[in-house]
Formats: sequence, C-alpha cells, structure tokens
Amino acid sequence: MITIVGAGKVGASAAFEILRYRISDVTLIDIAEDLAKGEALDMMQAAPAIEFDGKIRGTNDYSEMEGSELVIVIAGQGRKPGMTRIDLMNNNAKIIRSIVKQVAKHAPDSKLMIVTNPVDIMTYIARKESGLPPNHVFGMGNILDTLRFRSYIAQELNVSRQDVNALVIGEHGDSMVPLVEYASVTGIPITTLLTKQQIDKVVQRTINSGADVIKLKGATIYAPAAVIALMADAVIQGRNRVLSVSTCPSGEYGCSDYSIGVPVVLGKNGVERIIDLKLTPESKQRFEKSITKIKTAVAQLKK
Ligand code: LAC
Repeated sequence: MITIVGAGKVGASAAFEILRYRISDVTLIDIAEDLAKGEALDMMQAAPAIEFDGKIRGTNDYSEMEGSELVIVIAGQGRKPGMTRIDLMNNNAKIIRSIVKQVAKHAPDSKLMIVTNPVDIMTYIARKESGLPPNHVFGMGNILDTLRFRSYIAQELNVSRQDVNALVIGEHGDSMVPLVEYASVTGIPITTLLTKQQIDKVVQRTINSGADVIKLKGATIYAPAAVIALMADAVIQGRNRVLSVSTCPSGEYGCSDYSIGVPVVLGKNGVERIIDLKLTPESKQRFEKSITKIKTAVAQLKK
C-alpha cells in the first residue's frame, strides 16, 4: 500500500496516476477529511473504467498509514506566482515536522518520499527527524527538471522526446544544474547537435519552467503527479530506475549532511546507491553554488 499525505490537486492527481497504472492500493490522508474522502470516492467510481480492483480510501486519521510500503508527503503550501520555492520554507517545515512524527509512529518500516517544497530542505528535515534509515528517505528532486530539460531539447531539435536522455542535478530550484555534458539524443551528445546559444536557451527554459506554469495557471499539477507515479513504481516494483532524487550524499559530489538532487538507483530499498559522476568544471562550480544555497537556507530554518 502507498499512503499519500495531502489530498490537494497534486496529491489527488498522483493518487489517480498510481491507480491508473495499477501500481498499488492508495490511502489518501488530509486534515480536511471530506476532501480526502471525496477524492477517494470519485476515484473509486472511476476504477471500473480503468479496470482497477485496488483499494482507494480517504481519511484524516494518520494511523491508517500503518503497513504502508511507501508514504508520499505532498502536504503544505505551494508556490504562488513570483515566489521561489525557498520562500515557502519555514511555513512548510512545521507541517513536515508534524507529519514525519506520524510516519515514525505509524509506518516506521516504510520508505518516505517528500514532494513538499522546497523539497531539498524538507527532505533534509524528514531525514533528520524521522529516525528512518537514511536510504528510506528521499525527495522528488530533479526528476521533474530532467523531464523538462528533455522536453525542451526535443522541442529545439524537433525530435521525439523519447529519444532524448538527460540529467539535472542540484537544488530543485533556481540553482539547479542541467548537465549539458551528459545530455544526448539516442547517444549523440547534444553539444554536437545544438549551438552554445541554443543550449543556453534550453538550460534557461528548464530552470524557469516551473515558474512559467505557475504564472499561467497558479500551480504545476500533471507533471509532478506523473513524476510521483514514476517514483512510486520504481520503489513498489523494485525497478532500480536511475533518477535524480534528493538524498544526502556521503561525500559524493563534495556533499554530505545536506539533501540535494543527485543520480541514484531507486528501488525496493529506496536509494539503493548513489551514482557518482565526473562533472565538467562549469557544472561542478554550479553544483557547488547549489550546495551553498541549500546550506544557507538550512541555517535560516526556524526550530
Ligand atoms: C515544480 C514544483 C513541483 O517544479 O516545484 O513544478
């Protein structure tokens, strides 16, 4: 079973994706009990159409997460137009701390996945305060940024998105690092297909892409929901997907003690291992800036 805490638009959409792809039963928890119950009922009624026999329930009772293999936390405030993810930090930190306590109490054997922004800081808190094994606690990180990077490379070249492979690391925020040196189209490095100017444009679009959506419709929903389902699938089915998630390296990438997006193997045990990569001096410098940004934010966390 998967528990999703937070039945807002992203939480509910993620629950429906998980059901649609028959990944798992879902318990949807929200302090607004009627919202969680209503969403669950709506999805239950759709289930015959997607030929899904799994269970979906909505509740405000945290003890119902008992027995979950994966708990996904999406509760908290989202960004409004003009806000950075860091602006949400102290408000959402309070929410994460209280939810993490409930997870430690009711589902200590689960994997704990954080989506709430700023995701690297919230994952850091969850890791410190949950008492769960470190590899069991991870955040959504840069998978979404990576999908956006792939989409914009494909668009620039007018090729199938499916053939574009890429990786973004660092903060899930303005200091993220799209790794140009590892981006390719069916194995062909993008540096041989695009000019420096085109690459710079694609990188900048990737960094701004979340804010672009928020400016237009107030929130990002489908893209994060799709990523949550993809990560849930990796964990529940033990698929060992190679994805950039927020985790705390032990010295890899010159980082320890902070949670930041790096490529990992994501499987049954959560972060099965971190993949350490050699970066170009430019990417290395950008990644270091990203670490500094996270460190500075953590120092500003209110107790
Ligand atoms: C985004 C939010 C989830 O990037 O941070 O869409």
